[in-house]
Amino acid sequence: MDGNGRWAASRHLPRLAGHREGARAVRRTIEAAIDQGIGWLTLYAFSSENWRRPQAEVTDLTGLLRQYIRSELAELAEAGVRLRIIGETARFPADIRADLRAAEARTAGNTRLNLTIALSYGARAELAAAARALARDVRAGTRDPETIDEAALARQLFTAGMPDPDLLIRTSGERRLSNFLLWQCAYAEFVFQDVLWPDYDAARLAEALAEFAGRERRFGARPG
Ligand code: FPP
Repeated sequence: MDGNGRWAASRHLPRLAGHREGARAVRRTIEAAIDQGIGWLTLYAFSSENWRRPQAEVTDLTGLLRQYIRSELAELAEAGVRLRIIGETARFPADIRADLRAAEARTAGNTRLNLTIALSYGARAELAAAARALARDVRAGTRDPETIDEAALARQLFTAGMPDPDLLIRTSGERRLSNFLLWQCAYAEFVFQDVLWPDYDAARLAEALAEFAGRERRFGARPG
């Protein structure tokens, strides 16, 4: 969801104003995804690398996250959204961790939209943690290394049990993956949109879905 900073700068506003408007775009996009009948939506809200931003901005972002969960949870739950968090959430303050756990528990029975928010997420760290977990099992004698196949590794990821993304949308003209779901995006279609995240809306989502619908997906197989 990038472009918050540039959106604010172009209006001579502080970056926090861009992140606030970004949170409004999150709300709009969730509503639009539900309207479009999308079953799974994952939002990259905070990367492992984002901790390296100036302390004041990190504090602003964690504050916004705290506020967002508190103000939106009831509505998300009501709308049939199931919330999951992926990432190294241990790095967030205890009250936010507790709010996130409570939000996951409260919405665990919902099925309309599976909403995943990636927080303090980095795909390389996720893969390294999965390798460590498998290595520990081998050392403990509970796993034969020969049983480590793609499914076994996928079960160690934050996304265990979730479908791989079909479509990855990147906003604000950036054309990188930036350490997001490296394993899971093996066959994802990429759509790049120049729109800054705070301006994202139902029309932009519809555009991305239309572009996706026009792609021929072969998953490595020959055209039939
Ligand atoms: C990247 O834009 C955006 C972030 C690092 C934060 C994303 C946060 C939100 C959209 C709001 C809160 C989200 C939730 C789920 C409550 P940038 O700051 O890198 O902008 P730039 O690329 O223009 O510098």
